[in-house]
Amino acid sequence: MLTLGIESSCDETAASVVEGGWRVRSSVVASQNELHAEYRGVVPELAGRAHVEKILPVVRTALREAGVSLSDLGLVAVGHRPGLIGSLLVGLTAAKSLAWSLGLPLIGVDHVHAHLYSSLLDVNEADMPAFPAIGLVVSGGHTSLYRMESPIQPVRLGATIDDAIGEAYDKAATLLDLPFPGGPNLDRLASEPGANDRAHDLPIARISPASLDFSFSGLKTATMLAIRGDPQGQACPPSPREIPHTRRRDVAASFQRAAIEAVVLKLRRALDAHPCRTVVVGGGVSANSRLRAELERLGRERGLDVRLPPMRYCIDNAAMIAGLGHSLHAIGKSDELSLEPVPTTAC
Ligand code: KG4
Ligand code: ZN
Repeated sequence: MLTLGIESSCDETAASVVEGGWRVRSSVVASQNELHAEYRGVVPELAGRAHVEKILPVVRTALREAGVSLSDLGLVAVGHRPGLIGSLLVGLTAAKSLAWSLGLPLIGVDHVHAHLYSSLLDVNEADMPAFPAIGLVVSGGHTSLYRMESPIQPVRLGATIDDAIGEAYDKAATLLDLPFPGGPNLDRLASEPGANDRAHDLPIARISPASLDFSFSGLKTATMLAIRGDPQGQACPPSPREIPHTRRRDVAASFQRAAIEAVVLKLRRALDAHPCRTVVVGGGVSANSRLRAELERLGRERGLDVRLPPMRYCIDNAAMIAGLGHSLHAIGKSDELSLEPVPTTAC
């Protein structure tokens, strides 16, 4: 069966055709990066309007690239939570209209859960990871750990109590005067040859000895102080442009070390508390070079099967929505046309 997936929760308009839950026939993503660059963050009203302009061309392109027409589809899946309401509404309205006019079932998918599904896309049946697994979501809005009995059953073990890791990356990047989107640019600066990731001893929040929750707000503040220096006795902090490149690079590397160590520390704790052989990872920050290297190292050290999404499925996409939608529909789930957008995750 072919599933059309639609995603518009934040600033990417995406559509995808997935066959049988795993095989991606097309995945089209229209990014709004240029639109939000001058504000160094997503402006909800601009995002909603851009989705309206892009949604139908993106769906048409996804169908064309998959070599199918609307009449070949068997299911419409849509990311209906969490996200910006004005953005979610656009994809949800398109999905409902298509499902109603084509007489197809509709299924609403939780975007955070879908990130946990992204490392399973394009994987052959024989290479599917074994479950139970520990799931890790590291995105712009969420940082959470899950125990998963199967790809469709995440049970949350811990989550950030303040900022998400991607948000901390984006704020630190702004402090370092890096262009939007901050995360990938900070990753690049931190990875430059000669970068000293021990130049600044930035905090890694442990919270309490057994906690599986995360906290990144202290790291954000400490990064600001590392960039601007001690505010005591300074008339005004230096602008990032006055700070030598080597210092900005070392702050970036020190930030990256602390942020990624915090994630790996909590993942180790989760594996100790809930032993299993598989880790599935998803979310925009799973594109991070240091996180990928550290997780692969952890996999070798503990003999784990660590599944990282290919780069094209790290960022927001509709293939993960279609894939998960198919799997949920296969166990009898579907939604009414009265399905509403919801700002928060259910995971
Ligand atoms: O999953 P995603 O596309 O959107 C949400 O669901 O939030 O994640 C976007 C986040 C942004 O904060 C972005 O800066 C971050 O992922 N990101 C990265 C990297 N690539 C994207 N953060 C660190 N290193 C990267 N290479
Ligand atoms: Zn996302």
